[in-house]
Amino acid sequence: MSLTLPIYMDNAATTRTDPRVVEKMLPFFTEIYGNSASRNHAFGWEAESAVDTARKQAASLIGSNPKEIIWTSGSTESNNLAIKGAARMYARSNDGSSSAGHIITAVHEHKAVLDPCKRLQREGFDVTYLEPEPDGIITAEMVRNAMRDDTILVTIMWANNEIGTINEIPQIGALCHENDVLLHTDATQWVGKMPTDVERDCIDLMSFSAHKMYGPMGVGALYVRRRRPRVRLESLIDGGGHERGMRSGTLNIPGIVGMGAACQLCQEEMESDGQRLLELRTALEDGLMDQLEVVQINGDRQKRLPHLTNISFGFVEGESLMMGIKDIACSSGSACTSASLEPSYVLKSLGVGDELAHSSLRLSLGRWSTREEVDYAIDNIVTAVNHLRSMSPLYDLHKEGIDLSTVQWQSH
Ligand SMILES: Cc1ncc(COP(=O)(O)O)c(C=O)c1O
Repeated sequence: MSLTLPIYMDNAATTRTDPRVVEKMLPFFTEIYGNSASRNHAFGWEAESAVDTARKQAASLIGSNPKEIIWTSGSTESNNLAIKGAARMYARSNDGSSSAGHIITAVHEHKAVLDPCKRLQREGFDVTYLEPEPDGIITAEMVRNAMRDDTILVTIMWANNEIGTINEIPQIGALCHENDVLLHTDATQWVGKMPTDVERDCIDLMSFSAHKMYGPMGVGALYVRRRRPRVRLESLIDGGGHERGMRSGTLNIPGIVGMGAACQLCQEEMESDGQRLLELRTALEDGLMDQLEVVQINGDRQKRLPHLTNISFGFVEGESLMMGIKDIACSSGSACTSASLEPSYVLKSLGVGDELAHSSLRLSLGRWSTREEVDYAIDNIVTAVNHLRSMSPLYDLHKEGIDLSTVQWQSH
């Protein structure tokens, strides 16, 4: 098969919408264009029935009741609704405690969790930020040690978006239920890729997003438990009382239909996709590790998603590396802030140094990734790294066996 450049290895950022999903969405723009809230005519009924179908498809993927699915604009909104909505609803304002309530999260969560937590701190909530070990994993033990009498919410992501590591969500779920504490999980990178059962795993609130699982952008869902316990949320958006009053606003019907179809396809193809992607990821990592030294895979090697790898290359400069692999669309270990490149806070939280964090790549494979693309990426990255190292005096010293940590650098 011929190779089309550039190749896409940034599926953790977003996925191509599956053409089968697009096909399902199209009639809802021009043929079945009613508002699902219109109760008086067939256009509305058809739209409502399509939304019901999508709700069943999403619920089936995660083992919930369809009534427990709240449609949103994506995981950023789902996280905001879950975290702020639960904290404000269950705030301990009237029991004389000094804080409005205690929340547990982790330092390497996505900003869409960290920023709502910061806002709640300004509103008087206490937040504990757990720190991972170098393997990147948040364990139930860590959560247990941080729990207090006034803990109202634990929000820990299921799988990390930069390193793919998988946190101990089922164990954390059991712990939270034992202690009557709500568990929210940002499962944006997990749902659709790995089997999910919110009932078995004692999850109360769970965010997921269509564009990470071959559905369209701008649509997502929040699972909100209805029984044992019935979780209540203070809404962020008030209006017509849509979505059980938790998220007002006319529903994005084509998007929701697309998300439902994407969920169904993921459910049907998860096992074969996962197996194939694991083989490709193994080939990619083996190819790079066989040909390059001073390469490090970040995060736990076993407990991680099958399609994603985060690799640091010693003795290369991050920006130059990205320039050298322009035909591979992937993410680097640097985050662009207003004026500068900051090393990824996720990698830093694992103890990865600034230099190595900058020279890291997140390569994430997807439904259309091929062996040819993987082989191309290996060749391209190996060539770029070798080229940069050939110009690096530090790499020369390293090759001469000099331990760089013992070198006395002269300052002027
Ligand atoms: C873990 C995680 N949470 C939240 C988000 C935000 O999702 P959305 O783009 O659907 O708002 C992302 C997307 O990058 C993510 O990876």
